[in-house]
Amino acid sequence: MNRKQIIELDKKYIWHPYTEMQNYIENTHPVVAVRAEGFYIYDADGTRYMDGNGSWWTSIVGHNHPTLMQAIVERTRQMVNCSFAGTTHEPAVQLAANLLPRCGKTFSKIFFSDDGSTAVEVAIRMAYQYWQNVGKSTKNRFVTLSGAFHGETTGCASISGVEVFHTALANLLFDRIVMPSPAQLADATVEDATWYVDAFGKATEILTRQKDEIAAIIVEPLVQGAAGMLMYPPEYLSELHRLCRELDILLICDEVFTGYGRTGAFLAQHQANIEADIVCLAKGFSGGELPMAATITNNRVFDAFLGSAEKTLWYGHSFTGNPLGCAVANATLKVFDDEQLIENLPTKMTAIDNGLKRLAKHPWVRAPRQTGIVSAFTLMDPEGGDVASYLNQAGWKFYEEARKRGALLRPLGNVVYFALPLTVTVKQIEALVDVCEQSVHAAFS
Ligand SMILES: Cc1ncc(COP(=O)(O)O)c(C=O)c1O
Repeated sequence: MNRKQIIELDKKYIWHPYTEMQNYIENTHPVVAVRAEGFYIYDADGTRYMDGNGSWWTSIVGHNHPTLMQAIVERTRQMVNCSFAGTTHEPAVQLAANLLPRCGKTFSKIFFSDDGSTAVEVAIRMAYQYWQNVGKSTKNRFVTLSGAFHGETTGCASISGVEVFHTALANLLFDRIVMPSPAQLADATVEDATWYVDAFGKATEILTRQKDEIAAIIVEPLVQGAAGMLMYPPEYLSELHRLCRELDILLICDEVFTGYGRTGAFLAQHQANIEADIVCLAKGFSGGELPMAATITNNRVFDAFLGSAEKTLWYGHSFTGNPLGCAVANATLKVFDDEQLIENLPTKMTAIDNGLKRLAKHPWVRAPRQTGIVSAFTLMDPEGGDVASYLNQAGWKFYEEARKRGALLRPLGNVVYFALPLTVTVKQIEALVDVCEQSVHAAFS
């Protein structure tokens, strides 16, 4: 098929995620991806794009990393899939034994699933049923941060707060308790390291008052991704962890985005020296190459499910524990070791910091922010419009300009962000910043 035919059939048959389809069919010129390598995605028309968003934050070691590709080829020669109940296999146990100690001393069990949403759905089920199994069934509600995003199953949507995604579902979703986000707003003009203190005060009030009805708190540690790359310091997380212990509330860290080195440590919670009760992993977990995820937990939670049918976690999916996914996840950890990805991050973080400083000179750029290798800035829309809105068009104006210059930087409303692979080079970061600088000028000068 040539490029034109692909687009014609796409517009005839396909319903894309997070897409207003009428506008898409009438106005969008999609990238037709034919190949990907490292930091780049290639269009059928020959254009090479920098993958600035890391393909929805999944690409952690770059596209088609040879170690991952080799693992896939080797595994396909033996067995690509089999069910995972009453069956086990080497890639799964190897992965568990390799991964759990990296996550922390208390993590002892891993439950596999398919993507970030299922990893969170598993966490919801574990936390909810845990309290039933230990005879405290009044503890049945979930607490989340305002603006949280934890995925798209109905359970995940219920505990998420990016309103535009879920307004139409309001009557379908279960009720949650919302605590103020400890992160500074996306248009904050002054960096304030103590911003989180008020949010923690409010958290203490809510949790102390309602502890007997709360099963768990779920947080995106250090960076609230979909909310607009809103960032908060590890102090909030360590204080929250302490409070959860005191009040007997489970802490779930959704590290679907922040895990695998993005914040400068293997897990973001390591920056706060804590170990949550339940942790959700996906995206970078399989090197961003295959749908594969995991929910990990400790013996306290696991042991409560032992010994009877009533206590069992009756949950799973057709592809739970998929051997190919496990093989790729194992290979991803190998790349972390072979290439010392976390140890080598500081120079890349400095390059991003320098880039943000350059960008911040433009009058329409606000709140440059960075945690590890995750970074973002907010575009003030010269035409007005709600600054923190997902539907603000400023980001899309920027997107079109960046695309013309060879970078894919799909915005979150008016927030532009980088979710780069840990294998990115300083030169590639500089090239991406150059594109951003030119695109901001072209869009807003
Ligand atoms: C923190 C967080 N949790 C869960 C999810 C859902 O992951 P998935 O899109 O793989 O279902 C996302 C997706 O962006 C996320 O950022």
